[in-house]
Amino acid sequence: MTTEIFKDNELLAEAVADLMIKSIIDKPSGTFCLASGSSPERAYEIFTEKIKLQNIDCKQLTIIALDEWVGISREDSGSCYYFLNKYIVKPLGLGESQCHFFDPIATDFTAECDKIDQLISENGIDLIIVGIGLNGHIGFNEPGISPEKKCHVIDLDEVTKTVGQKYFDQPTVLAKGITVGLKHFMEAKMAILMANGVKKAEIIAKTIQEKVKVSVPSTHIQWHKNAKIMVDTLAGSLI
Ligand code: F6R
Repeated sequence: MTTEIFKDNELLAEAVADLMIKSIIDKPSGTFCLASGSSPERAYEIFTEKIKLQNIDCKQLTIIALDEWVGISREDSGSCYYFLNKYIVKPLGLGESQCHFFDPIATDFTAECDKIDQLISENGIDLIIVGIGLNGHIGFNEPGISPEKKCHVIDLDEVTKTVGQKYFDQPTVLAKGITVGLKHFMEAKMAILMANGVKKAEIIAKTIQEKVKVSVPSTHIQWHKNAKIMVDTLAGSLI
């Protein structure tokens, strides 16, 4: 694992976008597993602009959404589906068969998890891009989760329920999440954890400096064979 600190979020986003571009150029048929949220938003914008400018073909690319709020419709602006459609799928004109999402209102969540587990076991993940929760969650791998977990449904941590309100226009009951597991994160060929802003400084410092422990899921990144923690100066201010 390496750590890179950028002067501001724009430079951070640009660097992540360049790694995404490199990954597609190296392997046009690659698989990306992508988080939603404010951390990667600007990187995705720059990435799609560069793809268009450089006329890069994305027809063979596969996208897997990292997670979803259980019980909240995909059409809600707080969903990973909505976010990735807005920032990745539509700008790149990706086909439906290229993009894979959990159904947050499925009747059978075991089948939903099996569907994405199966896809990951067939394709692998070439690049996974994640943010980090104030509690150290990655995706919805909340404190206490086993690093051996593949896709699963989980009761959301109180911090996640509270902070998660920022994605919704009105107060929303958030109880469970469905997520790609830490095992998939650890097995991805390359992992990027992004963070910006001073609010993330403490958890970024813990992630890097504390021993690997289930109470801070993000610390597992220390054992990843090819991971980068990429932050702006503010999020990196306690390192
Ligand atoms: C979102 C996700 C979450 C966020 C994390 C940070 O798909 O998986 O784990 O990455 O909560 O959120 P932001 O980037 O909005 O600070």
